[in-house]
Amino acid sequence: MQQKGIILAGGAGTRLDPLTRVACKQLLPIYDKPMIYYPLATLMLGGIREILIISTPKDLPQIEEILGDGSQLGIRIEYAEQAKPEGIAQAFLIAEEFLAGSGATLILGDNIFYGKLDFFRRAIEGVNQDGGACVFGYHVRDPERFGVVEFDKDGKVLSIEEKPAEPKSSYAVPGLYVYDGSVVARTKALEPSARGELEITDLNNAYLSDGELKVELLGRGIAWLDTGTPGSLLEAGHYIATIERQQSYKVACLEEVAFNMGFIDLAQLEELIGETRNPYNKEYLEMVRDEQVGH
Ligand code: G1P
Repeated sequence: MQQKGIILAGGAGTRLDPLTRVACKQLLPIYDKPMIYYPLATLMLGGIREILIISTPKDLPQIEEILGDGSQLGIRIEYAEQAKPEGIAQAFLIAEEFLAGSGATLILGDNIFYGKLDFFRRAIEGVNQDGGACVFGYHVRDPERFGVVEFDKDGKVLSIEEKPAEPKSSYAVPGLYVYDGSVVARTKALEPSARGELEITDLNNAYLSDGELKVELLGRGIAWLDTGTPGSLLEAGHYIATIERQQSYKVACLEEVAFNMGFIDLAQLEELIGETRNPYNKEYLEMVRDEQVGH
């Protein structure tokens, strides 16, 4: 069955207050576009066309106003509320009807990936073929802020620990997770943690103890950017700006991704160009169109 996608754009954004009084964290700017464009582009680049966006009752209408039903991008976007922040894994309970038994890729609305996404496409293919789940390991300086992978001396994964005071490795688990169709049932079997949340790390460990979890380590060629504090938000923006200005290609331009993935055709791209308000973006999309036409 086709993988469906979920973007979880929850959280109170306390560490970014007062910025998050203007808009929720996932709508704050990363250089020239709202943050949520990046995880949405990641899902689309993985070939996922049916996507559920989950956010707070307060923030959901604003996100929906920006992204609509996705038809302009040749995808389908649905929306659902997370009434209370009761954990990342709660997303699967909220998404049960939307998923209707299919596998689910979850991306957190504040996780930005840049680089070749082959690792992600392979993970989706692997889970579609063999079932189980696939998560990733990314080498970081401050693993105690994340879910952390524990390995034995042969590199076999022993466990994942959520924000351990003494991390057993430097490999954090980014907020991009690929699961098979058993994800809803497995989530239902979880107990809330001490802080009253359904922990994504507990879900991953449930797959692991059944021998059904793959942990794919990401090499240096992938950037996984943090956006959790004013400083890291600014740095992420600079990173994207540097790449876009040097290459003249945009990162996470949704219209371009939709066109290159074959989700929309030339006529639909023309229509989007016609509707684009920003003259620079219009010019960019015309370049995308002309390069493709010239191929
Ligand atoms: C969450 C997860 C954590 C993961 C991180 C990735 O943490 O609980 O396991 O490593 O996302 O961004 P949070 O950002 O909610 O503190």
